[in-house]
Amino acid sequence: MAQPMQTTAPSRKKAEKHLPYWVEPAFTIVALGGFVIYAIWEVFWHNTGTYHNYVSPFFSPGVAGWFGFHVLTALYVVWVPFLFRFSCYYYRKEYFRGFFFHPAGCAVAEPKSHKTRPYTGERRFPFNLNNLHRYAWYLAVIVLIFLWKDTVQAFIFKNGFGVGLGSIILLINAVLLTAYTFSCHAFRNMVGGRKDCFSCANGKPSTGYKWWRRVSSWNQFHGAWAWASLFSVWAADLYIRLLIMGVFHDPRLF
Ligand code: FES
Repeated sequence: MAQPMQTTAPSRKKAEKHLPYWVEPAFTIVALGGFVIYAIWEVFWHNTGTYHNYVSPFFSPGVAGWFGFHVLTALYVVWVPFLFRFSCYYYRKEYFRGFFFHPAGCAVAEPKSHKTRPYTGERRFPFNLNNLHRYAWYLAVIVLIFLWKDTVQAFIFKNGFGVGLGSIILLINAVLLTAYTFSCHAFRNMVGGRKDCFSCANGKPSTGYKWWRRVSSWNQFHGAWAWASLFSVWAADLYIRLLIMGVFHDPRLF
C-alpha cells in the first residue's frame, strides 16, 4: 500500500504533538512583553548607550547627543526597529496569539468576549500600520548599515585594533539582525515574488530565481532569526549598560 507523503520533519511533528498550545503564546507574553518593558526603561531613563567605542543597538545610529536632546534623538532612532519588528509577519502571528487570543492557537476557540470586538485584521488603526512593513524594511536596512559601522568601531580601541568581549557580542548581534532583516517575507517578495515566470526569457533560471531560492532558504528560519536577534539586541544593550554602570570591566581578548 502506498505510504502518504511526509510533509513535516518527524522531530518537529513530535514536538508539536507534545507541546500544549498555550506554551507558545505564554513564551511570547514573557519574552516580547519583557523586551518592551526593558526597552522603555532603557530609552526613557537613560541619556546615552555609549561606552568608549561600544554603542548600544538601542542608541544606534549613534546620533544621541548630536542635537543635545538625548531622549528625543534616541526615540528618533528607536521607532524604526520598533515599527519593523512589530509589523513583521512572524511577530504579528505571535502577538495576536499571545496578547489578544485572536486566536491563541490553531483550532483553539476565541474567548466569548471577542464576539463584541471581532478580529479585524489589518483594517483598523493601529494594526493597519502593519501594511507599512515593506517601507519599514527600507528604513531598517539604513539602520542596519549604521549598526555595522558601530560594530566595526567596536574593534577599534584607543591603541588600535583589538577584540573585547563587547566587540564579539556586538558582532554576533549585527550578524543575527542581518539574518533577520534579509530573511524577511517582504524582502523575499521584492526579490522574486512578483514574477509569474523566472525563466521565460531564455529557458534558464534567472538571477531573480536564484536569489528568490536563496532568500526562501533563509526565510524558512525567519521565526528563529526573529527571536535570536531580539535576545541579542537585549543582551548587547544590557552588557553595555552594565559597563556604563561600572558593574564590571570589559575583558580584552586580544
Ligand atoms: S516578515 Fe519578519 S521582518 Fe519582514
